[in-house]
Amino acid sequence: MTTLTFMASNDTVAPSYPPSAAFSEQANASAALYDEAEADRLAFWTTQAERLSWAKPFTEVLDWSEAPFAKWFPDGKLNVAYNCVDRHVEAGNGDRVAIHWVGEPVDDERTITYAQLKDEVSKAANALTELGLVAGDRVAIYMPMVPEAIVAMLACARLGAMHSVVFAGYSATALKARIEDAEAKLVITTDGQFRRGKAASLKEAVDEAVKESDSVEHILVVRRTGIDVEWTEGRDLWWHDVVDRASTDHTPEAFDSEHPLFLLYTSGTTGKPKGILHTTGGYLTQSSYTHFNVFDVKPETDVYWCTADIGWVTGHTYIVYGPLSNGVTQVVYEGTPTSPTEHRHFEIIEKCGVTIYYTAPTLVRTFMKLGRQIAAEHDLSSLRLLGSVGEPINPEAWRWYRTVFGADETPIVDTWWQTETGSIMISPLPGVTDAKPGSAMTPLPGISAMIVDDDGNKLEPGTDHGEQASGYLVLDKPWPSMLRGIWGDPERFKETYWSRFAEQGWYFAGDGARYGKDGEIWVLGRIDDVMNISGHRISTAEVESALVGHSGVAEAAVVGATDEQTGQAICAFVILKASAHGGAETMVEELRAEVAKEISPIARPREIHVVPELPKTRSGKIMRRLLRDVAEGRELGDTSTLVDPSVFEAIRASK
Ligand code: WTA
Repeated sequence: MTTLTFMASNDTVAPSYPPSAAFSEQANASAALYDEAEADRLAFWTTQAERLSWAKPFTEVLDWSEAPFAKWFPDGKLNVAYNCVDRHVEAGNGDRVAIHWVGEPVDDERTITYAQLKDEVSKAANALTELGLVAGDRVAIYMPMVPEAIVAMLACARLGAMHSVVFAGYSATALKARIEDAEAKLVITTDGQFRRGKAASLKEAVDEAVKESDSVEHILVVRRTGIDVEWTEGRDLWWHDVVDRASTDHTPEAFDSEHPLFLLYTSGTTGKPKGILHTTGGYLTQSSYTHFNVFDVKPETDVYWCTADIGWVTGHTYIVYGPLSNGVTQVVYEGTPTSPTEHRHFEIIEKCGVTIYYTAPTLVRTFMKLGRQIAAEHDLSSLRLLGSVGEPINPEAWRWYRTVFGADETPIVDTWWQTETGSIMISPLPGVTDAKPGSAMTPLPGISAMIVDDDGNKLEPGTDHGEQASGYLVLDKPWPSMLRGIWGDPERFKETYWSRFAEQGWYFAGDGARYGKDGEIWVLGRIDDVMNISGHRISTAEVESALVGHSGVAEAAVVGATDEQTGQAICAFVILKASAHGGAETMVEELRAEVAKEISPIARPREIHVVPELPKTRSGKIMRRLLRDVAEGRELGDTSTLVDPSVFEAIRASK
């Protein structure tokens, strides 16, 4: 297994945290779920799908005849927005708060009930119809965490138009590529966004991105900050002009279960981002089911908070579709976690009485670094469940999270999933299963996953001692919220996910993993050229292409190196052109800025090393594995396939 370079850690002997009797007694889930799913998987998913309202009930559960293109509940029809909004109002819960919105400026808050949300979504749907949007059209959404972003997504869903949300931290260049690939007809944005107390423009990037666009007809702009914006008459429209005057009456149309719901672009192993396609019935079924059971939500009493941004899949599934389909009350926070002070998240938990908190390990580590005295100044006793997502959580951070946030009592759900899987796949079930710090434990009921070796043989469970073999994490059975393809590129879809274990027909997730003693899964991280920076997926190729886009750079190689804070950090090695001017130091700063501008500030390399040469194999392939060794200060691995092993003297000297 030459591709896997992970070290086993002694966490294979990690202690288990069994569920408390008190939590188990009130838990939504029970061990029976596993038995039901085991006994008849499709019947199990039928039961889960029936938690939703279907305008036309389905008679078929799964059509896998054209694998890997799945069809779930193919003859059923439903409307996603109706399921997330209207039906709660019809059930008499219109007065329940759907969203407690907390703006970044202190005391800038809005409370939106389900009845109000229904009106807002209906108005937006009418406005979009007036702008000529029809089912199947693509709408790019490039917005900060304001309520209108959620309203816009639901309005698209209501009309059967596909949204493609682009993280508002992405650059104009990244936005342009995504708008073009999807041929979006409409872009919804804001004038600007608040970041650490300052208003920064957002509309400007959209103007730049659509300059040469053939597809974009309108830009719909929410006024958020009041800053000045350039305006193109006829093309640009204010949200408050077109949405506010629209009618609150809108009858949702039912769409086929396999009608496309959204595209979400994610990094692949090449520079070109992949438009991951999700559809309607299966996606909503699994999003709703996992949200209900993994987070143990009680819609009448819980205050749920997922700290993700809607620009990522976690925001799609666990801010928009999961929680709203379950009719819960949630907190949505606009800003950065430490603005205006590092107390902000704790203040929000205390003030809103948050009961369920779902965040990323990188943020837990940030709080750890700030110290427990900050948390100690706040009453966090409302919390009863904690969640983690985006990267492996190190056991130390897990234990700190439970102690400091959870008073040493709350369960933690470490949830493994991907943009492609649509919703959670591997996680403990709170109140039912044990948890071990650092392990996502076992596949949820209805889900099947395995760790296999190169030949597809399932690995043995670990032992108490010694090194555990690691292998590939595969999903060996189709699941309802699975991606249905890569937008416009069925071949890339098959090649990326289904070719590694084509014979067996398994989905290869791109992650390495190993089994612990009790057969639980320890996810180790990506084994392809995708990095994970604070839970954000960025491909080495994307950063390399931004670097060589600079006129002074001849060649570039990028690797992700372990970083205590962000999980991984970007390390770049560049060869400058003879014509490059300025000293190496000036160039390094210039290049870091270039990457931030071309992709996003989150992709800004931690280090850039100017080197005379890059380590290559005889076939000209850059040996990233060796560069990772250098970046992490390790002894070099096998260098026998290098053309010129002496390049490392020079590379080391440049560090
Ligand atoms: C990683 C985020 C370990 C993994 C929902 C996966 C995790 C990638 C976990 C997907 C976890 C996510 N433990 N690793 N609990 N959750 N990952 O598409 O490498 O942004 O393949 O989806 O994040 O990232 P994505």
